[in-house]
Amino acid sequence: MPSIKFVDADGNETTVDAKAGMSVMRAAIENDIDGIEAECGGGCMCATCHVFVDESWMGKLSTALPEEHDMLEETATERTAQSRLSCQIMISDDMDGLIVRLPLTQI
Ligand code: FES
Repeated sequence: MPSIKFVDADGNETTVDAKAGMSVMRAAIENDIDGIEAECGGGCMCATCHVFVDESWMGKLSTALPEEHDMLEETATERTAQSRLSCQIMISDDMDGLIVRLPLTQI
C-alpha cells in the first residue's frame, strides 16, 4: 500500500496510506488533509487541488495532459515547475513514499 506524504505550507508533514488507482487528491480528502479543496471533485475544472511535487519525484510521475496545464494557469498560489493538480496524479504501487507540498492557499 503506497504511502503519500503531504507537507503543508508551514512544513508540517502528514503521511497517509493510499490505494493504487486512487488520485493523490482522493487520498488527501479521505484522510482529512487540510489544504486540498477539490471543489470540482476531481474533474480537472477548479485548480483547488494544486500541489507541488517534491523535487525527488519530478520526472517519475505521468506527465500532465493539456487540460491540466490549462487549469494550472488558474491556481490561487502561483504555479511553479513542480505544480500539478493532485486529482490528475493517479497513485500506483511504485509511488510509495511520494512527497507533495501544499500551497499556502487554494482559493
Ligand atoms: S479537484 Fe478540481 S481540478 Fe482537481
